[in-house]
Amino acid sequence: MNSGAQQRSDRRPQQDRRRLRVAVSGAGGLVGSALRDALEQRGDEVLPLVRRQARQEGEIGWDPGSGLIAPAQAERLDALVHLAGENIADGRWTTAKKRRIFDSRGPATARLVESLEQLQAPPAALVCASASGYFGDRGDELLHEQSLPGDGFLADVCRAWEAAAGAAEDVCDRVAIARLGVVLSRRGGALGRMMPIFKLGMGGRLGSGDQYFPWITLEDAVAAFLLLIDDASTNGPYHLVGAEPVTNAEFTSELGRVLHRPTIVPAPAIGLRLVLGEAADEMLLASARLSTQRLLDAGFEHRHPMLRGALESVLG
Ligand SMILES: NC(=O)c1ccc[n+]([C@@H]2O[C@H](COP(=O)([O-])OP(=O)(O)OC[C@H]3O[C@@H](n4cnc5c(N)ncnc54)[C@H](OP(=O)(O)O)[C@@H]3O)[C@@H](O)[C@H]2O)c1
Repeated sequence: MNSGAQQRSDRRPQQDRRRLRVAVSGAGGLVGSALRDALEQRGDEVLPLVRRQARQEGEIGWDPGSGLIAPAQAERLDALVHLAGENIADGRWTTAKKRRIFDSRGPATARLVESLEQLQAPPAALVCASASGYFGDRGDELLHEQSLPGDGFLADVCRAWEAAAGAAEDVCDRVAIARLGVVLSRRGGALGRMMPIFKLGMGGRLGSGDQYFPWITLEDAVAAFLLLIDDASTNGPYHLVGAEPVTNAEFTSELGRVLHRPTIVPAPAIGLRLVLGEAADEMLLASARLSTQRLLDAGFEHRHPMLRGALESVLG
């Protein structure tokens, strides 16, 4: 069986496969809820980390400000997948919002890792989310997993997040970092926000449109998380992005083509900055051209490597 077929069959229950115990923080979010479904569909036990005392069997209580509430609930996990964090695209970046974005990533991850140190049998693997924002605004430089981080608020957030997760190397057998591009789903996220504007024929490139826009379908993101959970040889950073880096202008025209709508209303950078402030530069105008080579080397095969097929599948 080739590895793509292997990945697909791994999403179904298998008689001969050991049932994994996997805890997931942020399990109610876009990625977390899809990952939870995929793990349960193939027969694994999913223990959501809930931001309160655990009330039901199988929940693990945690407080992002202080870590696990009752650490014993997290004994003997095969993997802890850490996705939680204040949504970055939801609301204006006030000082308080930026503080929540930052504190819910690096510092919250540090507290979680400190709790893992108290366990007799800590998770075999910590799989922690991060983001392409790690690289800041990098023009057309091809960014590999070992490329240096960039400048800016999101780069600082991601650097602190990854460093805090990396400290779990002293506790877990391995730590894998999933640096996500923008996750494409009709259920929400960035594409969910763009769709109404594009459907009205009011979509267009952002700024010059020359900035690289890293993307991955939700289905491929979930499959990549499954690989990072399952493959004991994976560790360190992986870029969860499609195989085809595209610019914002290319993304915009492909989205218009798939939706059968014109994309002739550009959003000038100055207008975006007026409306969104600093978040415009960090989220919409920054350029990040990511290589996904390490994930491919680990045997991953995208179901949607190219943008056109990805958008047709997500929106079809
Ligand atoms: N979606 C993307 O395009 C994308 C791209 C790059 C990186 N990422 C990162 O990948 C992770 C998962 O993405 P997602 O799209 O699933 O995110 P999401 O839909 O915003 O979900 C994040 C989850 O984190 C928890 N959460 C919310 N506010 C929090 C806070 N202040 N402190 C601690 N936890 C909080 C919530 O889960 P509970 O209520 O269950 O605790 C929430 O459902 C996020 O950290 C995100 O930054 C996502």
